[in-house]
Amino acid sequence: MTTSSVSPVRPWESLGPTWVEIDLDVLSANLAAVRAFVAGPRWEESARYAAAVGLRPPVGPPKVLVVVKSDAYGHGAVATAGAALEAGADMLGVSTLLEGLELRQAGVAARILVFNPLTPPEAAVAVRAGLTPTVNSLETAARLAEEVVARRPGEEFAVHVSLDTGMSRYGLRPDDAAEFAARLAALPGLSLEGVYTHFPTGADRGPASVARMRRHLDTFARAVRAVEARGLRVPLRHAACSSAVLELPESYLDLVRVGNLFYGYGSPTKEPRVREAWKMVTRVLEVREVPPGTGVGYGPDVVVRRPRRLATVPVGYADGVGVEIHLSGTRPRERLTRLAKAALALLDRLGLLLGPLARLRRYAWSQGILFHEGRPVPILGRVSMQQTILDITGRPAIGPGSLLTVEVHRVLANPRLGRVYYSGGEPILARTAPGLAEAAAGWEPPAAGTGPGRLRVPGPEAF
Ligand SMILES: Cc1ncc(COP(=O)(O)O)c(C=O)c1O
Repeated sequence: MTTSSVSPVRPWESLGPTWVEIDLDVLSANLAAVRAFVAGPRWEESARYAAAVGLRPPVGPPKVLVVVKSDAYGHGAVATAGAALEAGADMLGVSTLLEGLELRQAGVAARILVFNPLTPPEAAVAVRAGLTPTVNSLETAARLAEEVVARRPGEEFAVHVSLDTGMSRYGLRPDDAAEFAARLAALPGLSLEGVYTHFPTGADRGPASVARMRRHLDTFARAVRAVEARGLRVPLRHAACSSAVLELPESYLDLVRVGNLFYGYGSPTKEPRVREAWKMVTRVLEVREVPPGTGVGYGPDVVVRRPRRLATVPVGYADGVGVEIHLSGTRPRERLTRLAKAALALLDRLGLLLGPLARLRRYAWSQGILFHEGRPVPILGRVSMQQTILDITGRPAIGPGSLLTVEVHRVLANPRLGRVYYSGGEPILARTAPGLAEAAAGWEPPAAGTGPGRLRVPGPEAF
């Protein structure tokens, strides 16, 4: 019989037994693969498409914007942005102004496009931080123009406009694009650098999704042609996300925006070859043997009928455990099972798995989330906020201090968990949660003994 073996303690474990490892070399290699993929013959399809639909032809292979929103899909925005830029990213993309500020405060000087449409109160900070906003209202455009003229006289401040080609999320109606672009371009201090759309495809790459992307692209192209017909030259016309990079080369135009592919959600064997760079690791905190009739976890939802050996790990739903739904790339039956489990987990969250239905909780939370040496370890009872109990009966190799890997949706992984970055096979950097961006945006840090910070209007000294 094997007995548990405990791997050596890493230096960063003085801050806790759970961490996330990220291999920066893998991210760099992913970006190199994507860059090579979008150049060459595939890019030429985009040039042919532009000519066929009457758009100005792109001047060369598309630039590559790396999306580092949501803490770089859980990889840690600052270190990931650094790796992406070193590997040749032309631009970075974030969702919110605060995400852009976090990068600026860390010294990232690259071009950063903020996807969420800028609101008028954000205009001053966007200008001071030199972020490239998405502007979809004339009110915001006017506020920005005032800020630029006052703070950066003589400068041309680049903005992008987004179009809603059918996703109904944000953006101008395609029919309004030309008039809006002309009015925006006439404002002092602003230059219309980009016009873009986003496809609703997500990770789905089936034929129906590709057909939908193509329809969206045609709508986008018609709107951009109308903008160009007004004599406006927009240097960056962009639409392609990861799915479009793979499936719709005609959509590349001047720039592609990649998130999923850069983070390795693609294939390691099919071009562009990409790999995941991310791994969450935790150690077993305690192990106990329990007799029949023992309650396990909250509720207790589970009362064991036979003697069981249990392990407790210091990760829970606040860390993303048990809240994920992976639907892409799996077989239909597997998808259905995951969907059923996710639906049950949701009902449980809402407190609706009551009475006899409580038995279903165990099924809801039993998906393969924690693994020991590649084998899933079943969860027993309800996942707690920051702990999970595992059934390790018959698994003598697992003991106190055993290392487990944790499969969670990256974006839902707790940003407070430390990230450890590897390069050349060695750990080169460890960092814990950021949290300074608020200060730069105008949140005062709390004075000693006065409770939480108060909001103040950001002054010119904020940058
Ligand atoms: C506007 C925009 N562009 C590009 C992306 C990247 O998409 P993907 O991760 O599928 O490459 C996103 C992510 O959702 C996005 O919101």
